[in-house]
Amino acid sequence: MATTRVSWLLRCTHTWSIQPQTLCNRNVTTLTTTGTIFSRRRTSYVGVSMAVKTKEEEIVLEEEKKKLQLGIAEFYDESSGIWEDIWGEHMHHGFYHPDSTVSVSDHRDAQIRMIQQSLSFASLSEDSTKWPKSVVDVGCGIGGSSRYLAKKFGASCVGITLSPVQAERANALAAAQGLADKVSFQVADALEQPFPDGQFDLVWSMESGEHMPNKPKFVGELVRVAAPGGTIIIVTWCHRDLRPDEESLQPWEENLLKKICDSFYLPAWCSTAEYVKLLETMSLQDIKSADWSPFVAPFWPAVIRSALTWKGFTSILRSGLKTIKGALAMPLMIEGFRKGVIKFAIITCRKPEN
Ligand SMILES: C[S@@+](CC[C@H](N)C(=O)[O-])C[C@H]1O[C@@H](n2cnc3c(N)ncnc32)[C@H](O)[C@@H]1O
Repeated sequence: MATTRVSWLLRCTHTWSIQPQTLCNRNVTTLTTTGTIFSRRRTSYVGVSMAVKTKEEEIVLEEEKKKLQLGIAEFYDESSGIWEDIWGEHMHHGFYHPDSTVSVSDHRDAQIRMIQQSLSFASLSEDSTKWPKSVVDVGCGIGGSSRYLAKKFGASCVGITLSPVQAERANALAAAQGLADKVSFQVADALEQPFPDGQFDLVWSMESGEHMPNKPKFVGELVRVAAPGGTIIIVTWCHRDLRPDEESLQPWEENLLKKICDSFYLPAWCSTAEYVKLLETMSLQDIKSADWSPFVAPFWPAVIRSALTWKGFTSILRSGLKTIKGALAMPLMIEGFRKGVIKFAIITCRKPEN
């Protein structure tokens, strides 16, 4: 099941298949364009190499993708109820002011602050003439962001998630908050979004990118569904940028990330610089990124504290094995941030008008 490289430009940090292109000969069935991000010796650029995959390899890749998606769906089906019970409707980090003392009640405010800071970073907060009228929430959880954005902008929002439990709960919460005519949720894959091209003024992905096994396809879909002039906001977990003399992370760093991947249903990670390169190759405008790791530092210690309460502990035990496994991996996130391997990144850009 060897992969034959037709064009091997440089060794890559990550390789992601984009889509099958052409049928080839009898042994080698499909020629696949592979989006490849190179970071060797700081001559970093996003390139495209051609890889030839056998039918068997394609079947294996497809099976791996399905297994990952099933794991993600089951993980969130199982754990979303207890998260909502303890933490509320937002399933993402909070944005904290460094050096400030954090009280327990501040955590939900900090999650709202994360949304506000993200909008402001993308210059969407102040000028109401720029407010989006239509939003897609890619990897929507139980829809906290969508409902916030619908209320703030008066926009119509559609959210997608792999978890049927989340989609149902998100719709129920929208109805309960009188937003059913503005906001809706469905089960759909971010890598094959069920929307026409150019539909949304704001494409919002809050902590879902880390679950995507194919980053070029993920970003490609975000760009495809964005309207001309529309804004794309990606807030996501990344690994640190590689130094000029590095070709990959250190083995201990890879090991740490692998353990986190196994517990949270994540594929290979990429760096913020790699996201930026991807967006650059797609000719997007106003590309900006920032490392917000210092602003999220109080989050995981607080999640662990809430898990160690009687309510948290018994709820986790009742939820099932996937939730227990996820809870056990939480200290690894703290370690990853503390050692600088994990970065909490925001990346924003605008699709050109034409
Ligand atoms: C950590 S939760 C974030 C939820 C939400 N954005 C929030 O901030 O509350 C990750 C979400 O990404 C979704 N997700 C992961 N992979 C996905 C995919 N391929 N397609 C659609 N949703 C996906 C999960 O179902 C889950 O809803």
